[in-house]
Amino acid sequence: MQQNRGQWQSTAGFILAAAGSAIGLGNIWRFPYVAGTNGGAAFIVLYLACVLLICLPYLYCELAMGRHTKKNPVGAILKLRGGGPWTLVGALGVLTGVCILSYYGVIAGWAFGYIFKSFLAPSMTLGDFSANALLGIPLFAIFILMTVLVVARGVEKGIEKAARVLMPMLLLLMLLLIARGLTLPGASKGVEFLVKPDFSVVTMTTVLAALGQAFFSLSLGMGAMITYGSYLPKSANLQTSGAWVALFDTGIALLAGFMIFPALFALGGNPTAGPPLIFEALPAIFAQMPLGSLVAAIFFILLSIAALTSTVSLLEVPVSYFVDDRRWTRAKSVWVVGGAAFLIGLPAALEPSSPALQSISLMGATGFLGVMDLIWGNISLAVGAMLLCIFTGWVWGFRNAGAELREGGGMTAAGVAFWGFFVRFVCPLFIFLVLLSLFPLGTRILAAFLG
Ligand code: PHE
Repeated sequence: MQQNRGQWQSTAGFILAAAGSAIGLGNIWRFPYVAGTNGGAAFIVLYLACVLLICLPYLYCELAMGRHTKKNPVGAILKLRGGGPWTLVGALGVLTGVCILSYYGVIAGWAFGYIFKSFLAPSMTLGDFSANALLGIPLFAIFILMTVLVVARGVEKGIEKAARVLMPMLLLLMLLLIARGLTLPGASKGVEFLVKPDFSVVTMTTVLAALGQAFFSLSLGMGAMITYGSYLPKSANLQTSGAWVALFDTGIALLAGFMIFPALFALGGNPTAGPPLIFEALPAIFAQMPLGSLVAAIFFILLSIAALTSTVSLLEVPVSYFVDDRRWTRAKSVWVVGGAAFLIGLPAALEPSSPALQSISLMGATGFLGVMDLIWGNISLAVGAMLLCIFTGWVWGFRNAGAELREGGGMTAAGVAFWGFFVRFVCPLFIFLVLLSLFPLGTRILAAFLG
């Protein structure tokens, strides 16, 4: 069986594919709007702290589990533990993959449609565009189809090859747009917004937003990095590979900030526009630029590319489970899971034209899509990360996991001890507190303790 699973053709191939998973709508669509509504530079400082102190140590848990077991999240826990309730944590990851894919694919479909919209109907609003189900549903279907076709080709032929071509192209396109934005008169105010922190605006909500954004952006908490790590050879250095992935992802998020805010401030846009930020403000900005339609098209090609390498990883997690543990063929798995994600995502695609779907709300999130993102893209990832941290640190044992991290010239013994402290205590506790504050009762308990 083992030889049929596939393996990355090189460590660089893995880094590109994992960075491709991490880099997506999370960096280019979500990061700018969350940073914009949370005060800019101060949020960015917190976000960077979360990436370094919480997400990076946790990333090593997923990579160690994946490479050690050569399995998907369910199979990995089964192999390390032989069944029991911990298997449910892996199952949650598989389910989360399908559910995030379902609404993520809808937004990715809009990004894909905007490539053509920039030429055909540049002044149409996001509201009018997305409320047209005859546009939204086929675009969503096309995006899921593209994802299915890449994943169907398998690890090294499909995903690795796609990432190798697409990732460098993405970076190049972004640098082009940054250069354009920075040379506009008045751009320096946007730069200031990104680099001059005002910590007086920081609240517990800002910390929450920063941690949630860090998990989502790095594809952590649902076992995507267990699955991608499972295709890594023993000779690969997990410590440096993981660090590169985090560095690339964070770098692209910061570049996205520099791509958007200088131009936004130069042209008098509103940084607190929320989720529609890039879909509404940017086309308006592009409209005032020379060759605006072309620049807009380039931007949305870029966004679609980034989203595709992420949807590929979202699909790969459930697919690897069905291939490894249910003995389905890869072809059957991709079509069944892709089809399921499409069906689950239909309400998200129909939401802009349905007042009933828009009126759904839960704990501050509004609309079907917003509620799905809260449940799967936020709570489920945090719960999954906390439990997998505890699993690695205490159940599998940080020394066993550490031995895996030391293979391939990875971590030193001192490094493992340091990492073990974070994984056993710092990360789970911090995530727990953040989760607690998601709930009204938890907020009150926290407030009582913190005074
Ligand atoms: N990290 C991806 C992004 O930033 C989204 C994602 C989350 C992918 C979880 C896989 C798993 O767009």
